[in-house]
Amino acid sequence: RENGVTRQENGAYLVGTYHEIAALLHDPRISSDYRNRTDPDEAMLRRSERPPAFIGLDDPEHDRLRRIAMRPFGPPHSPGRIDELHGDITRIAEELIDAFRGADRIDIVDEFAYPLPVTVICRLLGVPHEDVPRIRAWTNAIIDSFDFTPGADQKERQQAGLDARDAMAQYLGELAGGRRGHPSDDMLSALVNDAGPEGRLTDVELMATATLLLIAGHETTVNLITNGVLTLLRHPDAHKRLRDEPGLMPKAVEELLRFEPPVHMLPQRTPLADIEVAGVTVPKGAPLILMLASGNRDPLRFDDPDRFDPEREDNQHFGFGSGIHNCFGAPLARLETQLALGALLPYLDDFHLVDDPPPYRRSPLLRGPRHLLIA
Ligand code: HEM
Repeated sequence: RENGVTRQENGAYLVGTYHEIAALLHDPRISSDYRNRTDPDEAMLRRSERPPAFIGLDDPEHDRLRRIAMRPFGPPHSPGRIDELHGDITRIAEELIDAFRGADRIDIVDEFAYPLPVTVICRLLGVPHEDVPRIRAWTNAIIDSFDFTPGADQKERQQAGLDARDAMAQYLGELAGGRRGHPSDDMLSALVNDAGPEGRLTDVELMATATLLLIAGHETTVNLITNGVLTLLRHPDAHKRLRDEPGLMPKAVEELLRFEPPVHMLPQRTPLADIEVAGVTVPKGAPLILMLASGNRDPLRFDDPDRFDPEREDNQHFGFGSGIHNCFGAPLARLETQLALGALLPYLDDFHLVDDPPPYRRSPLLRGPRHLLIA
C-alpha cells in the first residue's frame, strides 16, 4: 500500500483515499467501459457486451443515452417530476407501516425497505406491480453474480446473473414495445415515444436503459433505508435527536450516504493510458477499483470519520459517485429515504435489533443487510 493505492496480487489497483478517488472520477482518461481492460474476466466481458447500459459506456455515447433517459425526469439537475411524488411516497410508507403495526417482530427489509422503492420505481416506469416477485428474483441473481469471491458456484452464479439480465431486458423491451404508439403517463412510454435533440433509443438501447433504471432505481435505495434503520438503532442519541428535530432528516440522510453507503465500490474503471495515482503508476488497461466507502471515511477529508454525526457540515461524500456518471436518481433516492425514515422513526422507539450484525447480502459492491429483524 502506498498513499491510498494498493496493488492486489491479481493485478488490480485499489484506490481508497478521498482526493485520489475524486480526481479519478473527473479524469477523462478513466473509462467506465469494461471492454477497455487488457486482461478482462470472461464473464464480466460477456456481461458488458450484452450491450452495456450507459453506466458502462464513455462519452459521447454515455452522454447521449444519459440525456435521453433523463428527459422524463425533467431537465438536468432539476427534480422535475420527482417533487410530485412526495404525497405518493408518504402514502406508500404509511400503508406499509399500518400493515405491521402491532407486530412484535418485523423484517425491515421485506416489510418496508424493499417494497417502498420498488413500488415507486415500478409506478414511475409503468411496470405492473404484480410482476415485482419476478423482478426481485432477477435482480437478486444479477447482484449475487457480482460477488467475485472464488467458490464452487461462482460460474453458475455468473451464468444465472447473465440469464436474469437477458430475461429482464426482454421483459422490459416487450412492455415498452406495447407502449409504442399507445403512450401512458409513464417513463417507458416517454422513452419509446418522445424524440428529443439526441434522437430516439434503438430497441437494444431501450432494453439496456430500462434494465439499468429499474435495477438502479430501487436496489440501492433498499439498502440505504435498511442501513438507516440499522444505524439509528445502533446510535440511540442520533435517533433521539432526529425524533426531537425532524428538520435534521436531510442532513442525516447525507451522513448515512457517507457512513454506510449502499454502493461500496466502483469495480469497473480502467485507465486508457498509464496514469500516476499518488506516486504509483497504474498501467493502461489495468483494473482500477475505486473504494467509495473508504474515501467516505478518509480522515484527511472528514473530521472524526468513524463517528455517525447526523448534523455533519460540508458532507461531500461519494454516496452517489461524482463526475459524469454521478447518480441521476439522487433526488428521488434522497426523497424516498427522508420520507421513509421520517415515517418510521416514531415507530422504532420500542424496538431493538434481533441480530447485530445482521446477515448481509452476498455482493461486496452493494452493501446492505439481506434481512433486518427488529423486535
Ligand atoms: C449511478 C448510487 C439511486 C439511477 C450511480 C452511481 C452511484 C449511485 C454511486 C455512480 C456509478 C458510477 O460512477 O459508475 C446510488 C445510490 C442510490 C441510487 C446510493 C440510492 C440510495 C438511484 C435511483 C435511480 C438511479 C433511484 C433511478 C431512478 C442511476 C443511474 C446511474 C447511477 C441511471 C448511472 C449514471 C451514469 O452512468 O451517468 N448511482 N443510486 N440511482 N444511478 Fe444511482
